[in-house]
Amino acid sequence: MDGISFEGRVAIVTGAGGGLGRTHALDLAARGAKVVVNDLGSTIAGTGGGTAMADHVVKEIIDAGGQAVANYDSVATPEGGKAIVQTALDAYGTVDILINNAGNIRNAPFTELTPDSIEALLAVHVKGAFYVTQPAFAVMRDKGYGWIVFTSSASGVFGNPEQANYGAAKGAVLGLANVVALEGASHGILVNTVLPMAQSRMGADMNPDMMATLPTTPAHTEPEMVTAMVAYLASEENPYTHEVFSIARGRYARAFIGVTEGWHVAADEPLATADDVRRHIARIRDQDGYHVPGSLIEEAGLIP
Ligand code: NAI
Repeated sequence: MDGISFEGRVAIVTGAGGGLGRTHALDLAARGAKVVVNDLGSTIAGTGGGTAMADHVVKEIIDAGGQAVANYDSVATPEGGKAIVQTALDAYGTVDILINNAGNIRNAPFTELTPDSIEALLAVHVKGAFYVTQPAFAVMRDKGYGWIVFTSSASGVFGNPEQANYGAAKGAVLGLANVVALEGASHGILVNTVLPMAQSRMGADMNPDMMATLPTTPAHTEPEMVTAMVAYLASEENPYTHEVFSIARGRYARAFIGVTEGWHVAADEPLATADDVRRHIARIRDQDGYHVPGSLIEEAGLIP
């Protein structure tokens, strides 16, 4: 395949037995990567398991002339995370690229979310991202380079009704990615996050009423739309780190949390009160002139 190449690279894609993970794995493999296709083979809720989903994608890759091995461990435990990375080390000797993509979903109105449906989502999205990334990061750190892509969601960053468990978990993924990006910077590890919106079994569940109104042209709905961004971010062509990209309905855009210029109290002035805040609230909220802090230190104004 012409263009971006992953020749000689080893990639892990979690949750790659279907949906977005499958097209990420197929594209990386078609561009020369050796791919670990991880998938628990679970239902959309994350229950059950099996080998068929991961095996099917491995077969698709091999039938197309690529290289891949399957892994069926859950991302949600430390042992599972280690085993997924060990699969890459055993089969191909290293790991260069990690795409954290595995996910589950259990929607309900806020007060009806059960402890089980809260914990199951935190386990896969948040703990899963920790437990696979830690051992992969260690390999990349020792080599001095690597690419990690996390999968968050517009639901976690902007909100979506009846997804408090999902939104909280995906928000946490963004917090994790921010710190891994900062710690990875001195080791040559580039870390970015995507907010996908595409047709898959989960996409159909994301916001069924809204999804039903969307046009179904491939360029606006197919998982490959998201894969285009993910593959770019995982490649040598990508110089960026610590960034977030939203891919929805054919629109590729950077997303960020900005801070307004705000209202400043000088160091030698009295402490502000609630009445001062009331007086200056328009200035505090004014979105003209925002900036995008690169870290807590930068937000504290210690880095100009
Ligand atoms: P999907 O349900 O088709 O794929 C998720 C895959 O993860 C499944 O193959 C499942 O077996 C696997 N999985 C579940 N729990 C696992 C575990 N513990 N360990 C290993 N694998 C596990 O869903 P889709 O749409 O492809 O989602 C991919 C990612 O994109 C997920 O993180 C999802 O939350 C995220 N996302 C998707 C959106 C969409 O519109 N499709 C919107 C926003 C985020």
